[in-house]
Amino acid sequence: MAITIIVAKSNNGIIGKDGDLPWRLPEDLKRFKRLTTGNIVVMGRKTYDSIGRPLPNRKNIVISRNTSLKIEGVEVEHDLIDVLKRNQEENVYVIGGGQIYVEALPFSEKLEVTEVDVELVGDTSFPEIDSSQWKEIFREKRVDLESNLTYSFVSLERIA
Ligand SMILES: NC(=O)c1ccc[n+]([C@@H]2O[C@H](COP(=O)([O-])OP(=O)(O)OC[C@H]3O[C@@H](n4cnc5c(N)ncnc54)[C@H](OP(=O)(O)O)[C@@H]3O)[C@@H](O)[C@H]2O)c1
Repeated sequence: MAITIIVAKSNNGIIGKDGDLPWRLPEDLKRFKRLTTGNIVVMGRKTYDSIGRPLPNRKNIVISRNTSLKIEGVEVEHDLIDVLKRNQEENVYVIGGGQIYVEALPFSEKLEVTEVDVELVGDTSFPEIDSSQWKEIFREKRVDLESNLTYSFVSLERIA
């Protein structure tokens, strides 16, 4: 059981633009679905808005400061760290966005990163990771024929 951050980021750390993803990579979305299904997904309210519906077959937890926010099919919570501590016995996937990644990174044991081989302008970034604290355990290179983007699925584990 672990807290895992799952993210797709460009070479310069960009993860979002205008409230959406800066690319369309169907194989990445399939991997996201395969890894997260059956588990808990935790996301910021803005990421929830960009998805627009609860992700099926997963417990959806949305983090917001708005104490009157109610969303059908979703557990709205106000304290990310409390959520992570309460669900230590489960597989929790932190699925973004930028604000939530910053807060969750110190508590995460695994990173599932899709490194998209492009430099982009965007408005949301993934925080710098300290590579001395993480060990790469898996890497697989892919090409998206539609967009001609190359990208790699990379798994990292925190060094104990
Ligand atoms: N490439 C990827 O893998 C990926 C993944 C996910 C998202 N994204 C992109 O990232 C962007 C969204 O990221 P973002 O950084 O703008 O927003 P976000 O992290 O998704 O959500 C921010 C919201 O979360 C709530 N929040 C944050 N910290 C909190 C705290 N300490 N306590 C309580 N609530 C807290 C607040 O909601 P309230 O305003 O309701 O209080 C805040 O406005 C979009 O462009 C999205 O497409 C990319």
